[in-house]
This record gives sequence, C-alpha cells and structure tokens, in this order.
Amino acid sequence: MRKPYSISMIALLSFILVACGKGGDGKAVEGESGKSAAEPLKMVEFVTTQDGSPLIIKPELFDTPAAKEFATTGKNPYIGNKEAIEKGKKLFQLYSCTQCHGGDAQGQTGPSLHGPNYKYAKNATNKGMFETIWHGTNGGMGAKGKGLMDPTDPNNGLTPDEVLKIIAWIRTHGTTTGNE
Ligand code: HEC
Repeated sequence: MRKPYSISMIALLSFILVACGKGGDGKAVEGESGKSAAEPLKMVEFVTTQDGSPLIIKPELFDTPAAKEFATTGKNPYIGNKEAIEKGKKLFQLYSCTQCHGGDAQGQTGPSLHGPNYKYAKNATNKGMFETIWHGTNGGMGAKGKGLMDPTDPNNGLTPDEVLKIIAWIRTHGTTTGNE
C-alpha cells in the first residue's frame, strides 16, 4: 500500500512545482489586460536605513498615482509640485519634525535636512530619504511610517503619499532634487 501512495505524492508534487513555475514567469498574462486595479505593483526593493535589510511595505498603502509611481520607480513625482510642497510643509509641522529638525529643516537637536551631504549618504536620494523617514534610524530618529510610528495604533503614522510630499518640501531647501 505504501508504494503507490508515494508515487502519487511525487506526481502531485511535481504537478505543483510545474504549476508554480508557470505562475512565476507568466508576466505578460496579467499585464496585457492593462491597468486593472488588481494588478500587482512591481515595487522597487526598499531597505532599512538601520542595516540595509529588506523593508517590506504593504503595496495597498501606495494608494495614489504619485505613490504608485514612486513604488515602481523610486522617483518622487511631487518634486517641484507647488501644492504637494505646501502640503508637505504642513505635514512636517503636524508630525513635529520641526521640534527636532527646526521650522525650516535647518537643524536643531536633529541634523539639518538641506543636504547635499547627509549623515546617511542614501538620503541624497528620494528613495533613501523615504526609507529613513518610513523606518527610522538607530540614532534617535523613530519610524514615521503608517503602522510603525505607534505600535498601539496601526492607523497612526504617515502614508507613503504624505512622506513623498514632505520630501518634496525638504528638497526645496537644497540644490538637488533627489531624483537624479
Ligand atoms: C525626536 C526628534 C526627531 C523627530 C520628531 C524627527 N526626527 Fe528626523 N532625525 C532625528 C535625529 C536625532 C536624526 C539623526 C539620526 C541618527 O543619527 O541616526 C534624524 C535624522 C533624520 C533624517 C536623516 C538625516 C541625515 O543626515 O541622514 C531625516 C531625513 C529625517 N530625520 C527626517 C525627519 C522627518 C521628515 C520627521 C517628521 C516626520 C522627523 N525626522 C522627525 C530626530 C528627529
């Protein structure tokens, strides 16, 4: 009785493997239907500023066209966008970034954010600065991303869209856009 059972198990397993393999490289299949809402985002690989380990952010949090574009390109579409910059400035105050970085992000107890030289070199890029704000650092800067900022309330914290607006405002003080 044992033998036929193991053979059918092997058959089943290989079927599953083949099926998974197909799913893995069937890229074009879903893409062709266009921009259906269910289409998964092909996200850039985010890493933490603490130690460069993978940073997993739920795709559904990228819920605006700009946030989606950023998730797939690592570029911040709000750079130079007046409305977004205005909103970013308000969020910088609302989330008390001002208390440590100063009203103009010029530096206070926390470092200046004007650049182009940063304590963490990656913050010269918008992807890098996003990762720093989202997940924090080891040296006194807590995570501000939604679900991370306040362990007691998963709805508290900045959405990706809001982080991008804050960064767009921060970049108005510097000489680089971060999208270079
Ligand atoms: C409690 C004080 C505090 C608050 C509030 C705070 N920060 Fe910071 N921030 C720091 C400190 C301290 C550092 C330096 C961290 C380190 O050395 O690891 C830092 C570092 C940073 C950096 C990296 C700077 C560099 O040179 O690499 C960015 C970007 C940043 N903060 C953005 C923000 C934003 C945006 C907010 C608000 C959403 C914010 N911070 C709120 C204290 C704070």
